[in-house]
Amino acid sequence: MTKKILLSGIKPTGRPHIGNYFGMMKQMVDLQDEYQSFPFIPNYHALTSVHSAKEMQENTINVVMDLLAIGLDPEKVNLFKQSDVPQVTELAWIFNCITTMPYLMRAHAFKDSEAKNKEINAGVFEYPILMAADILIQDTDVVPVGKDQMQHVEMARDIAEKFNRIFGETFKLPKHKILENVETVPGTDGQKMSKSYGNTIELFAEDEEIQKAVMGILTDSKGVEESKDPEECNVFAMHKLFSSEDELGEIRKKYVEGGMGYKESKDILVKNIQDFIGPMREKRKEIAKNPERVLEILKKGGEVARQRAEEKMIDVRKKIGLV
Ligand code: TRP
Repeated sequence: MTKKILLSGIKPTGRPHIGNYFGMMKQMVDLQDEYQSFPFIPNYHALTSVHSAKEMQENTINVVMDLLAIGLDPEKVNLFKQSDVPQVTELAWIFNCITTMPYLMRAHAFKDSEAKNKEINAGVFEYPILMAADILIQDTDVVPVGKDQMQHVEMARDIAEKFNRIFGETFKLPKHKILENVETVPGTDGQKMSKSYGNTIELFAEDEEIQKAVMGILTDSKGVEESKDPEECNVFAMHKLFSSEDELGEIRKKYVEGGMGYKESKDILVKNIQDFIGPMREKRKEIAKNPERVLEILKKGGEVARQRAEEKMIDVRKKIGLV
C-alpha cells in the first residue's frame, strides 16, 4: 500500500523550547513511519517578518539541525526548504488570480496583524495563498497543524476546489490533521509556555540552564509537611511531561499526603529534564559539527520536492492555457 502524503512547514524563527517540542516537532518524528512525509522550512513565509539575510540563513540551518537532533530521519522523510521549489511562487500567482480579496480578508492571521495596527506587507495578506501552493503542489493528503493553522488548511482546500471547478480536476483536496494529545506545555509561571511570556525552557538547554529555569518555577509557600494540590502546582504540571507513570503516581501521593516540599519536587524535575534533554543536546552538537552534511540533506530534499512540483506544474500550465 502506498503511504499517504504528509506535508508540514516549520517556520525558521528563533530557538525552540520544550513547548515547541511537545507541540509540533515531536509529532513530525512520531508520524514519519506512517506517512510519506515532506517536512519543509517555509522561508518565503518567514520573509514576511525576517528581513535580514544573516538571520534567515542562521535560522534555517538551525531549524534543520534541531529537527535532525530530535530524530527526524532524512532517510525516511524528504526535508527541504521552500525556496528550492520556485514552482510554489508560480502557483501562488495563479491562485491569486482565482481568489477574491474579501475571501483573504477573512483570514484570522491577517485580521490579527491588521488589528495590531502594524504596517502590514502584502506578503502577510497573501500568506494563505502561498501556503495553499505549498500544500497542493505536492498532492498532499494530510497537513498536521495546530488549531491556529486550521483555517489556512481549509483555505487551501477551498482554493483547490475552486481551481478544479474552473479548470478541471487537478488538485487533491487536503485534510488537516489536528494534532491529538498535544499537551499544552505550561511555562515556568504556569501560563502557556511562550517566548513572548519569557517563561520558556530551551529544548537544547545546558544542565545549568535547566537547573536555573526549574528553580525559578513559581509555587505557593506551603511547607514541606503540608498537603498540596498537585493540579494547582506548576512544578507538578511539568512532572506530567517528564515522569514515568509510576514516578508521577508517587509524587502525586506525596503532594497530597504531605512530606514532599517544592525543593525536593524541583530537584526531581531538574534531573528528569536533564536526562531527557541531555542526549538530544549532545546529538545536536554532533550534527552542528558537520553543516555540510546538513546542507546536503536539504539540497537532496529540495531536488525531490522540486521535481514533483514541476510535474504538477506541467499539468497546471496546460490546464490554464499557458502552453
Ligand atoms: N503557516 C505555518 C505556520 O505558521 C507554516 C507553513 C507554511 C505551513 N506553509 C505550510 C504549514 C504548509 C503546513 C503546510 O506554522
